[in-house]
Amino acid sequence: MNKLLEVNQLKTYFFTDNGTIPSVDGVSFSIDKGQTTAIVGESGCGKSVTSYSIMRLVDSPGKIVNGEVQFEGKDLTKVTEKEMRTVRGNEISMIFQEPLTSLNPVIKIGNQLDEILILHQKMSRIKAKKQSIAMLQKVGIPRGEQIYRSYPHELSGGMRQRVMIAMALSCNPKLLIADEPTTALDVTIQAQILKLMKKLTEDYQTSILLITHDLGVVAEIADRVIVMYSGQVVEEADVFTLFANPKHPYTRGLLASTLQLDEYKGNLDTIQGNVPSPSNKPTGCYFHPRCPVAKDICRKEMPQLKNLEQTNNRVRCWLFEDEKEGLLHAENA
Ligand SMILES: Nc1ncnc2c1ncn2[C@@H]1O[C@H](COP(=O)(O)OP(=O)(O)OP(=O)(O)O)[C@@H](O)[C@H]1O
Ligand SMILES: [Mg+2]
Repeated sequence: MNKLLEVNQLKTYFFTDNGTIPSVDGVSFSIDKGQTTAIVGESGCGKSVTSYSIMRLVDSPGKIVNGEVQFEGKDLTKVTEKEMRTVRGNEISMIFQEPLTSLNPVIKIGNQLDEILILHQKMSRIKAKKQSIAMLQKVGIPRGEQIYRSYPHELSGGMRQRVMIAMALSCNPKLLIADEPTTALDVTIQAQILKLMKKLTEDYQTSILLITHDLGVVAEIADRVIVMYSGQVVEEADVFTLFANPKHPYTRGLLASTLQLDEYKGNLDTIQGNVPSPSNKPTGCYFHPRCPVAKDICRKEMPQLKNLEQTNNRVRCWLFEDEKEGLLHAENA
């Protein structure tokens, strides 16, 4: 009812000279209004490609080959490029990992902010300037007027990231996608930026899709967590359950290696081995070669993503196959 975004069986493949790479391999999840959802998982598991697919920014040789991205009654995989540009400017915004690459180095911050408002909200130049300076103040930039007249290189990394957030929120988007928004920043600034994002989304009722490999960040800001492994969702839960009672052996390994929790020490405290190459995935469950509790069936058959105990929480693991709850999606990936 309260769903803002629903991703269904999304598959995004890269068609390279060396073969087809199924980077996003049948991903399904949904995001509620006003909620912060985090996607976590090791490097290469498909987090960024998932978010680029939602925004339809996947470049050749990548292509969405299957699935839906339902947003406000539209399937974004099907709308025209013109409609998609409107969605990108007004309804879904994205913050990238390195703000320097997404700010134009030769245009003053203020003009870049103004442009968005003039283009998407059809504001007059005078009104846009006022709104831009107000936005800079809202994201915690003290001398808004001065920063308005600065070039990107004149700002620190933390300031640039704040400017990016101001830009992303200036059109009052319904969904903000933030791909590792704080990775390039030091820990103190990182905490400030996260707090700021949280506060701004509370004020504006924006939903956030936060992509990160940092579980500390997740604990601080997320309501729900999606754990990805090798192009698939392996677990999805509310943040409390995920930390208190992680189900999938991969999630348990991730938590243990990040948080060094005593109860997970032992053979699960680090995850042995590497993420499989997307072009050469193992048979059965993709995680089985690294799983400390793999059974015979795990080597042969892919488990499905199942709801647990009448909750919205889901896990893709043969350990939980015996539970009685019905299948949510008959996945064939
Ligand atoms: N342009 C491309 N051409 C070929 N393969 C690609 C391309 N972009 C991504 N991939 C493949 O898709 C897979 C998923 O990449 P993605 O960038 O989504 O990972 P990620 O989870 O965001 O990792 P990280 O934490 O390092 O950002 C990777 O294995 C990568 O090799
Ligand atoms: Mg990435």
